[in-house]
Amino acid sequence: MKTIRDFNPKDKTILIRVDYNVPVKSGKVTSDLRIRASLPTINYLLEHGAKKIILISHLGRPEGKTNPDFTLSPVADTLRKLLPDVKIGFYPLPEKGAKAKIPAEVKIALLENLRFDPDEENNDQDFIKNIIDATDADTYVQDGFAVIHRAHASTDAVKNFLPVYAGLLLESEVKNLESATKNPAKPILLIIGGSKVDDKQPLIDKFATKADQIFVGGKIAADGYKAKNPRIIVADDFDEDSKGAKLDIGPLSTAKLAGLITDAKTVIWNGLLGYAEDPAYATASTITAEVIGEKPTNETTTIICGGDTTGFVEKLMEDHPSLHYSLVSTGGGASLEFLLGKKLPGLEAIQA
Ligand code: 3PG
Repeated sequence: MKTIRDFNPKDKTILIRVDYNVPVKSGKVTSDLRIRASLPTINYLLEHGAKKIILISHLGRPEGKTNPDFTLSPVADTLRKLLPDVKIGFYPLPEKGAKAKIPAEVKIALLENLRFDPDEENNDQDFIKNIIDATDADTYVQDGFAVIHRAHASTDAVKNFLPVYAGLLLESEVKNLESATKNPAKPILLIIGGSKVDDKQPLIDKFATKADQIFVGGKIAADGYKAKNPRIIVADDFDEDSKGAKLDIGPLSTAKLAGLITDAKTVIWNGLLGYAEDPAYATASTITAEVIGEKPTNETTTIICGGDTTGFVEKLMEDHPSLHYSLVSTGGGASLEFLLGKKLPGLEAIQA
């Protein structure tokens, strides 16, 4: 995989596919994890003399229509706060055949939500070619790890028009997820939580022979998940509310899991262990995040993935900056598909 270290960015106009599909409430970004995660690549390219950076992304699923609820404008505001010394502009998707009106002094141009045009998801060549021509982009960087499982114009068709390179976020996600899947250090522990067993069963099946232990918690365990495989340990005590609803795994299961984490050399965690939105039922997830985050990452690979789990861990890290993980993945579906060994069009496009 060629990365941004493999070309000279000097005087180049670089189109970067980022994944700024971030939560927005009342016109404000409520979690900037994915935006912050894109900064190393942007900063590297600017420091190495890039003339201009064009950022392209989707946000939500506006189904091919312009919809102010899905505008990337709040993301532009967050970017300006994160990069106060850089001139950043926000622009509509260019009309067919028209030039994007980006002034020379603007170093970073963020374009409006790609999914306002159905041709993004149609993987339409002309759609992305029009963006390239309108912005005079001469190089493409894929750094939107969270969207590499989609074959869209900005992740796939784009490879037909520009030289392609991986950004630093993509490189780091792939490197860490690879070390967890190809020759991972043993013992390997997979921790599964969350609520939908159908979503998690493929991952359990995939790791059933690979992992030394699989621990199942969350609503899946509370709903009575049964495993025949002796490597699969299902939480069997729970914290309940006054009506008897099992809302967190209990202290015995949490202690058992902590022991498994301590012994493991590779830990992959996907899915919260209880109803952690309510602090009363976040105990098991908090302890688990802490025990994993205290492991030295030079000796172990520790991977946190899945939207809710990464959000939870990121929040905890704000209060406990000493916690460390090999990877807090920005990918929801993408990291799961990677772990399952599925084909990832966005990754194939840059490996071709
Ligand atoms: C994600 O958040 O998983 C990615 O941004 C992909 O979004 P999508 O599932 O709408 O394609």
